[in-house]
Amino acid sequence: MRIGVFGAGYVGLVTAVCLAEIGHLLQVVEVDGDKVEKLNNGISTIYEPGLTELLERNISRGNIYFTNDSSSVIEHSEVIFLCVGTPPKPDGSADLSQIESAVREIARYAREDDFKLIVVKSTVPVGTAKQLRELVRNEMQGRRLNLEIASNPEFLREGSAVSDFMNPDRIVMGTVSARAQALLGSVYESFDCPKIFTSPETSEIIKYAANSFLATKISFINMVADLCEEVGADVSLVAEGMGYDKRIGPEFLRAGIGFGGSCFPKDLQAFLHVGKSKGLDFGLLEEVISINNRRSLRVVQKLKAHLNGLNGKKVSILGLAFKSNTDDVRESPAAKLIKLLAQEGAVIKATDPLSIENFRRMYPDLVEYVQFYEQAEAAVAGSHAAVVVTDWKEYKDLNWKQIKDSMARPVVFDTRNMLNADDMLDNNYEYLAIGKDIVHLTESLT
Ligand code: UGA
Repeated sequence: MRIGVFGAGYVGLVTAVCLAEIGHLLQVVEVDGDKVEKLNNGISTIYEPGLTELLERNISRGNIYFTNDSSSVIEHSEVIFLCVGTPPKPDGSADLSQIESAVREIARYAREDDFKLIVVKSTVPVGTAKQLRELVRNEMQGRRLNLEIASNPEFLREGSAVSDFMNPDRIVMGTVSARAQALLGSVYESFDCPKIFTSPETSEIIKYAANSFLATKISFINMVADLCEEVGADVSLVAEGMGYDKRIGPEFLRAGIGFGGSCFPKDLQAFLHVGKSKGLDFGLLEEVISINNRRSLRVVQKLKAHLNGLNGKKVSILGLAFKSNTDDVRESPAAKLIKLLAQEGAVIKATDPLSIENFRRMYPDLVEYVQFYEQAEAAVAGSHAAVVVTDWKEYKDLNWKQIKDSMARPVVFDTRNMLNADDMLDNNYEYLAIGKDIVHLTESLT
């Protein structure tokens, strides 16, 4: 099938490359000329495991092509996916201007009577497809355009997006007509997973509801983690005990420093905004957000208490990305943490296997407080405490036994509960974690 994609950002690039891999013929519109050139040469512009290999293969098979000429892509495609950005506006609502201008462009170049299905993949508030139908109507100006708007949200996680695309839990397709449903269904014909055919409105809500629910699980377990610390319980075991209940499930119950990234924080705000705009009480989501916003502060307070103040103390930040296996630092807990530590007068060193440059670009105001190190060992040397902020496997594999002697004081705060507590205590670290009173636990063992 001939498919167009608008936007070679994170979602657009993964979607286009994966659709090419399953045999469709893809043309991708991207406004950034440098990106177009790189991508046509097989160079991926984002870090995502497995993507480069698929990109190279499908360029050489002639299944994918990048351009900034939208008219030729519109001409070429029966189905056009919109994967452009929907950044938050200051009031938390989603800014749809990029989506709207893509739809206007398609309406401008589409031929009369030529059926084209415009599929919104970007995360957009409920009612967007309807709004875009209105927009198309206004753009027709007497022409007989045959454009339909559908919703087909993505459920890709950064760091495993290719595998998530290829092995989806489900595919949600929101269409108005039977023709659109059949066409969109045939794009995903080769996938063997539950397929939900519904209206665009239901489909749009599924995406926000799914992300909001996952974020709610995280804030819930973080709330429980705080209680565990107070009473000497272990949140990891609480989560395990809860997770075996099939109605709850084990996923997204890892307590920690809170969720970040380009999706959860933005989508929660947007869903909250939609609920409120309909006069509904979405206070549950307000609480999920505020629990999350307090996570970094709690870490700083615990560290401050443990070190007897932070002024002049050297603190190493292990991990700047919002989670492992990505170079993305958007809404990263590390940024909040650094800001709070700096306010307390700490001297901050930081490291990350992939994200130092992105961090410098995204948080130029914070950079003056931080000294960056390529290697974790160098970042930790001389410090009074190391804080594991991102769940990189590299930090689990560090030779903790060896680096201990390089530290001014062997304090490790594991905000992801990813290190082996027994090993850390055996190595004589002062080991702090989330939702576990480690000192109390070891005392009770002895
Ligand atoms: C999330 C969703 O998982 C995807 O399904 C969705 O498609 C995507 O948003 C999106 O809307 O585009 P992503 O933001 O890449 O994906 O990352 P997640 O793996 O979901 O993690 C989000 C945040 O929650 C991270 O900061 C992570 O460290 C944190 N997290 C996750 C926890 O603190 N605890 C957990 O148990 C799980």
